[in-house]
Amino acid sequence: MYVYLNNAATTKTDGRVLFKMSKYYSELFENPMTSNYSPLAKNVEEEMENSRENVAKLLNVKRDEIYFTSGGTESDNWAIKGIALSNWDKKGEIISTPIEHMAVLKTLETVKKWGFDIKFLPVDKYGMVDPEDLKKLITKKTLLISVMHANNEIGTIEPIEEIGKIAKENGVIFHTDSVQSFCHIDIDVNKMNIDLLSISAHKFYGPKGVGSLYIRKGIDISPFMDGGHQENELRSGTHNSPGIIGLGEAVKIATNEMEEEKKSVLFMKKMIEDRVKNIEGININGHPEKRLPNNLSLTIDRVNAETMLTYLAVNGIIVSAGSACSAKEKSASHVLKTIGLPDELAHNTIRISLGKFNLVKEIEYFNEVFEYGVKKFREMAPK
Ligand SMILES: Cc1ncc(COP(=O)(O)O)c(C=O)c1O
Repeated sequence: MYVYLNNAATTKTDGRVLFKMSKYYSELFENPMTSNYSPLAKNVEEEMENSRENVAKLLNVKRDEIYFTSGGTESDNWAIKGIALSNWDKKGEIISTPIEHMAVLKTLETVKKWGFDIKFLPVDKYGMVDPEDLKKLITKKTLLISVMHANNEIGTIEPIEEIGKIAKENGVIFHTDSVQSFCHIDIDVNKMNIDLLSISAHKFYGPKGVGSLYIRKGIDISPFMDGGHQENELRSGTHNSPGIIGLGEAVKIATNEMEEEKKSVLFMKKMIEDRVKNIEGININGHPEKRLPNNLSLTIDRVNAETMLTYLAVNGIIVSAGSACSAKEKSASHVLKTIGLPDELAHNTIRISLGKFNLVKEIEYFNEVFEYGVKKFREMAPK
């Protein structure tokens, strides 16, 4: 049996998305930016605009506030570097958290070299930000707040609405990395006072290498790539039209099926939680309630995550250690360290992330294999 439980790293592209995309690689291949008079190119353009509309609708924003990018990493880079570039002369401060994805943390390192001050909010043992700390950290020099919506490793959902309110009251731009949450849990950009929001299609059964940045109208953001006139002169480069159309289709599907998926992954996650509760020495990381429905981060006493991952993979089960995005990184996860896990326990942590294609019988199989593995590895481990 092949059981894929690493959906936070990437998801299988939905067949309906693939079907929709395929003709934009074949007969409808034209580039609408340069084939002005071609009816085929017109069709491509219309479909890309439909995609924009689908994203906008789900976020409760206007269509012309959606910009297509190459994915979450580019959207995060653009949000932060774009605001920094627009404030080049006066510089200023950016507030973020130490548990952001590397696409944000590494970008902040660059922007720091450009002369901007970076401040980090503390997080509690669940990885949760306290909005009161934000109030204390904001100054007249604060330009931008960047706090992720949901954490990719431990699933904790941050108090985005409260953060957005504080940002608005203080006239500070608010960016959120919504790569793990968009199309999985509800987001209302207006209600949450979000100014910039990053998404990535491959996290919700869309294609890889395509994403979007929502930019609230009126926000002064510079392009961070120079080139042609695409995306209202703000994001150059020939459109990845099949990818963009695939993203739109994935959003349309999620709009209709998100609730059903939530129920299904929560049910299967509970099957694992119920089993795990009966095994001593396993701790669930992240917030007990305010968490992504599909994420389960487990720290297993006396069982090394790499050993567990290898054993599970031999049995056809794919999960990840800490963050899948940095699986090649052998040092302990920065998120787990920040929430207070000592190195040894961080190295004993696996992340299970469910998706809409998982089946109950796969979870039953996982539970059997996992419990047996924990028992055997502990028998072999030094006391
Ligand atoms: C929270 C978060 N932000 C950004 C990214 C990067 O997205 P992409 O893979 O589309 O570049 C990821 C990917 O894992 C993520 O989980």
